Amino acid sequence: MKLSLAVLALTLSSALSFTIPSNAAHRRTVNSDTSMTTQLQATTGVARNKNFAKLAGGYLFPEIGRRRNAYLEQNPSANIISLGIGDTTQPIPSAILKGLVDGATALGTQDGYSGYGAEQGKADLREKISEVLYNGLIDPSEVFVSDGAKCDIQRIQNMFGPDVISAVQDPSYPVYVDTSVMMGQTQQLDEAKGQYDGIVYMECNEANGFYPDVAASPRADVVYICSPNNPTGVAATRAQLEETVKVCKERGSILVFDAAYAPFIRSPDVPKSIFEIEGAKDCAIEVNSFSKYAGFTGVRLGWTVVPEGLKFSDGTPVRQDFNRVMTTSFNGASNIVQAGGLACLSPAGMKEIETLIDYYLENAGILRKTFIDLGYNVYGGTDAPYIFVSLNGKSSWDTFSEILEKAEVVTIPGAGFGPGGEGFLRLSAFAPREGVIEACERLKKAMA
Ligand code: MLT
Repeated sequence: MKLSLAVLALTLSSALSFTIPSNAAHRRTVNSDTSMTTQLQATTGVARNKNFAKLAGGYLFPEIGRRRNAYLEQNPSANIISLGIGDTTQPIPSAILKGLVDGATALGTQDGYSGYGAEQGKADLREKISEVLYNGLIDPSEVFVSDGAKCDIQRIQNMFGPDVISAVQDPSYPVYVDTSVMMGQTQQLDEAKGQYDGIVYMECNEANGFYPDVAASPRADVVYICSPNNPTGVAATRAQLEETVKVCKERGSILVFDAAYAPFIRSPDVPKSIFEIEGAKDCAIEVNSFSKYAGFTGVRLGWTVVPEGLKFSDGTPVRQDFNRVMTTSFNGASNIVQAGGLACLSPAGMKEIETLIDYYLENAGILRKTFIDLGYNVYGGTDAPYIFVSLNGKSSWDTFSEILEKAEVVTIPGAGFGPGGEGFLRLSAFAPREGVIEACERLKKAMA
């Protein structure tokens, strides 16, 4: 009895030790996520992950959505056209849809029912990915089917942990930097530079054709390259990728190649996969996705290729550790969605995908022409669904706001992709055609 009273007293005192009084001194403004800025009062004694406190702001795309909604609140009759987030708008075509529907229907039958699948994905889908998309360059056992490239980047970061140095293109898709910060790979944000200490920023600009000089950049353990690039819309040439692979091999770096937009490539001899480059299997991982060309942004299906021979410095196969991450924290992509993925890779599905890509690239062409006619320098849009417009020195957030107010068109300020994106605006070609045409008419008036 005496003992349990003592335990109770101890428990109470430790409970009290994190009871936070309600006086103002203990209140703080949590503003590292501007989309959720709010006065918070502690209700637990759990310390916040210090890496999250380093994050400079909310994730880019919700922040854009927040500003759009704020504008709508003030202007309820506004007719906003979104050329912002790269979200698909065209319906899933019939052969691919049939794959999804059949996948769902099978679950209602005794013979067709399935529960958990392999965490790495269905064997037939892994085989089809290897055969149809890589022409056998990679083995099905090297393919990990997932719920998308963004989620895989986070899982890849889990595998690398806090002790690696990452290098990113500047500007770049924000997930590489933000997940590096979350993992604890960085120090604080250098406010003046707009860069985190501890990350290597590889400059991409008009002068270097938006592809970094990797050899001239400090060595990093992990090098993130996205081609066709988000946000610039520029696809890396074979020579550029050969040089990158060479440098990564010489330096013992791992190249994480994001090929989520690869099927949009129309220029001849531009690689659609890093594994088209000799030696890449010794140094590269590739992340990929069905999102942007099969209309799967909401359906969710992607994959990552980790070559069998890729090893860490102690000789452990990278695939072994990635498999450990996947089997521990992922239960496999939905079996319905994987049936849809198989339909994508059928001859009929591939034809439908080509038609969808043509549609979005035509949109990109309309956007390109509009800005070129207005006298702007425009990049991307021929091998990618994004165009990147030089604002001739104007602030990208100011231009974003001006266009939202004058034209009711949502764009993405280049600065949202890193300091190297300042002075540019990214426009997505994923809106419906009539929206793109209408947006261009409004932009002509607003930006003339
Ligand atoms: C983008 O707009 O950059 C992307 O669509 C966002 C994403 O794919 O996560």
